[in-house]
Amino acid sequence: MQRLTETKAWQALDTHAKEIRPQHLRQLFAEDDERFTRFSLTHEQLLLDFSKQRITATTLDLLRQLAAQADWQGWIARMRQGEAINHTEGRAVGHCRLRAGEQAPEEVRQVLVRMADFCERIHSGQYRGYTGERITDIVSLGIGGSDLGPRMAVHALAAFQQADLRVHFVSNLDSADLAGTLTHLNPRTTLFVVASKTFTTLETLTNAETARNWLLAAAGRHSAISQHFVAASSNLAATSAFGIAPENVFAFSDWVGGRFSLWSSIGLPIALAIGFRHFEQLLAGARNMDEHFFSAPAESNLPLTLALLGLWNTNFLNAHSHGIFPYSHSLGLLPAHLQQLEMESNGKRIDRNGLAVDYATNPVLWGEPGTNGQHSFFQLLHQGSALVACDFIALARSDFPLPGHHSGLLANCLAQSSALAFGQTADEARASGIETALLPYRTFPGNQPSTTIILPKLTPFTLGQLLALYEHKVFCLGVLWNLNAFDQWGVELGKQLASRLAPILRGERQDNTLDDSTRGLITHLRQFRS
Ligand code: F6P
Repeated sequence: MQRLTETKAWQALDTHAKEIRPQHLRQLFAEDDERFTRFSLTHEQLLLDFSKQRITATTLDLLRQLAAQADWQGWIARMRQGEAINHTEGRAVGHCRLRAGEQAPEEVRQVLVRMADFCERIHSGQYRGYTGERITDIVSLGIGGSDLGPRMAVHALAAFQQADLRVHFVSNLDSADLAGTLTHLNPRTTLFVVASKTFTTLETLTNAETARNWLLAAAGRHSAISQHFVAASSNLAATSAFGIAPENVFAFSDWVGGRFSLWSSIGLPIALAIGFRHFEQLLAGARNMDEHFFSAPAESNLPLTLALLGLWNTNFLNAHSHGIFPYSHSLGLLPAHLQQLEMESNGKRIDRNGLAVDYATNPVLWGEPGTNGQHSFFQLLHQGSALVACDFIALARSDFPLPGHHSGLLANCLAQSSALAFGQTADEARASGIETALLPYRTFPGNQPSTTIILPKLTPFTLGQLLALYEHKVFCLGVLWNLNAFDQWGVELGKQLASRLAPILRGERQDNTLDDSTRGLITHLRQFRS
């Protein structure tokens, strides 16, 4: 079987990269004053500007040949037909069906109707707690994909927040997370959403059990559980064993992967926070991007283009770090969500044929909102030794407008991507009056590649488009790298070890087969815990 790196399309890119690597973005811009037009795409009002990527028209042609060779459209068809493309778990990949509107499966539409009804009863005050008081606080208990997406979306859509209802998120097993949240809450007016696909995740179940004890201590009766706990899960036996009434369980299927699940009932906290009508717009925005992804040719396909640029930077320019910089406070949790989406999906080294890859796969993804990042780690981007690919994300209009803020914010966003691309030469520094001895320190090499994404404004619809754009980027990279982007076996080993170590830490068991470091740490911890 031919290795990916031996294929014609890969080899052509490899040869081409040798020509491009020495070239500077200054030169590429100087040679082409149509660069922005040539290297930007729009879908409706969403703009993708990749003119500051270190590419030429030939680069894009060759990358698109690689995509054709990988049969990206065939893989889309396989996903849409419900083939078990998550082959290591024997599952289909169905998150697009969750937002397919009229085309969604009956089971999906039924759950959406129940979610709408539940939101309405909470918002109208018809749904009451065990003392008959209305619910004022929702606490979502979940982790990973059952937390990051909804937490990010609720934060992003704060401008759409329902009045008189606060939505909190608790994910950490560290009791400081739950304790810090509960301390401000009243059990009589608090409702818990236990969000867990498997309903077996240690962190979530531990938090749910502690929350249940907190409620029972105040209510003094078991029947309060069914009034104050609802679940989003696909394990109905476990939700029932926990004491959650069947009518309060919002189910979803196993073909919904955790990191793609905010569109399912895992998104209930979003719908509660912003109202069901807005949640539907979030789904509609994602559906709109799905339709674009499924039908647009390679030349105008935004998600495919984003993926191809990611592959080019990783495999041919050797950028193994990728920064996500939303110039939007509301999108502040987007980097954390994308971290799971990208790194849990394509942070892999075994391909679909079971062979170890001989090429780099997903880069390390990280980020912070601008302008905060500018005053901390941006120094490394400007003058450090690492090549870091960057995504700048900005809103044309502020979601919380105050006079004098937004133009300054946008100016900073554009200034950073420009400074990273073009840098500052010693001659330019000298011309601006820098003394000779300081010139090496005041020179900026530039040539850091970046993409800028601009949304007209942040709404449930545009957020849906943006999130689906990145989801499909991940899908395409999985196809291009020949990986299964939908399993996550890598997180299992640590979980197994933790369950083995917990009884040893509690002093209930001994294990002489542990490594010396772990044994030493346990001895030390037990000394200070006793
Ligand atoms: O840690 C891995 C993982 O399986 C994630 O993929 C998932 O989003 C998270 O755990 C939570 O799982 P669950 O929803 O089953 O509690």
